[in-house]
Amino acid sequence: MTMLRSVILGCGSALPAQVLTNQELAAKVDTTDEWIVQRTGIRQRHIAADGELTSDLAIQAAKAALANAHVDPQTIDLIVLGTSTPDNTFPATAVTVQAGLGITRGAAFDLQAVCSGFVYALSITDGLLRTGTYTRALVIGAETFSRILDWKDRTTCVLFGDGAGAVVVEAQQQPGEKTDRGILTTHLRSDGRHKSKLYVDGGPSSTMTVGHLRMEGRAVFKHAVAMITDVIEDAFRATGYTASDIDWFVPHQANKRIIDDSAHKLGIAPEKVVITVDQHGNTSAASIPLALNAAVRDGRIKKGDLVLLEAMGGGFTWGSALIRW
Ligand code: ACO
Repeated sequence: MTMLRSVILGCGSALPAQVLTNQELAAKVDTTDEWIVQRTGIRQRHIAADGELTSDLAIQAAKAALANAHVDPQTIDLIVLGTSTPDNTFPATAVTVQAGLGITRGAAFDLQAVCSGFVYALSITDGLLRTGTYTRALVIGAETFSRILDWKDRTTCVLFGDGAGAVVVEAQQQPGEKTDRGILTTHLRSDGRHKSKLYVDGGPSSTMTVGHLRMEGRAVFKHAVAMITDVIEDAFRATGYTASDIDWFVPHQANKRIIDDSAHKLGIAPEKVVITVDQHGNTSAASIPLALNAAVRDGRIKKGDLVLLEAMGGGFTWGSALIRW
């Protein structure tokens, strides 16, 4: 029996022009290129210019995705934007993106799940498309984490960067089989008991300020691999696929050691893992679509490939998505 599936039609990304290397950072805080590379795999990150907003990056990424998908913006009826660094407390940055694209129909909203924002946004969009509520969506992850970093705290400021990525997703009738194109399964989880391990120490209701990112790095690391592998096992159980069926593993790009450990534990071969954390640092909700776009543009991810996404971040929140590209 045929069924509606959310098929990815195209992707795009955007990065600020300014690059900040580890060496440049080492001139500002007490750190070294060697320490950062060895502990995280990060070599550089992009930093938004003064006045360059999350919405600017999101609009640029969305336009690139629409062009890649050969889709007219006027056919988009849903925009879901994963971000923890919105332009303003309200309205949602997604409506700025909507206006920037000249779209006046459908709905646009932000989704806040920190580094899991893109997987959460994709999952929610999948639900709305498969029920027939909307037909064509833009799913975006966009961040300017440089704005909420404490640039005097070497334990956090070396890890993050700015950027945006987007995909165009369309509801399409598919045969209703394991080999269907589109999002095959998504799994979202959260556990608020861990909220003090990775948070921002400000907000409209608590301090009336924006605040700075605070993290217990070791505690995050300790939980990350177990949570990531757990939610990926859920995706395998739901679909009957196994690690050996995966063509490309596109994990959240937080730390190369977390990525390597997760892939190893799952039995995913290193050559199937897409890595961009060396170039972008951790761009939170933007990291997966940035990595996806890199692997699509250089010809690695092709139509029909089985692509596995995972993310884990503040909250904690975590999730997985298995997609036939
Ligand atoms: N440069 C040099 N030295 C540093 C730096 C730095 N930037 N930061 C910390 N150190 C020092 C510490 O002060 C400590 O020194 P000490 O031994 O004299 O006390 C030493 O390095 C080791 O510190 P640890 O925090 O134990 O280092 P660890 O090996 O755990 O690495 C890191 C830190 C990279 C943050 C790691 O814990 C990690 O990757 N955690 C996961 C965090 C993460 O990825 N968060 C992203 C958001 S969540 C997500 O997206 C999954």
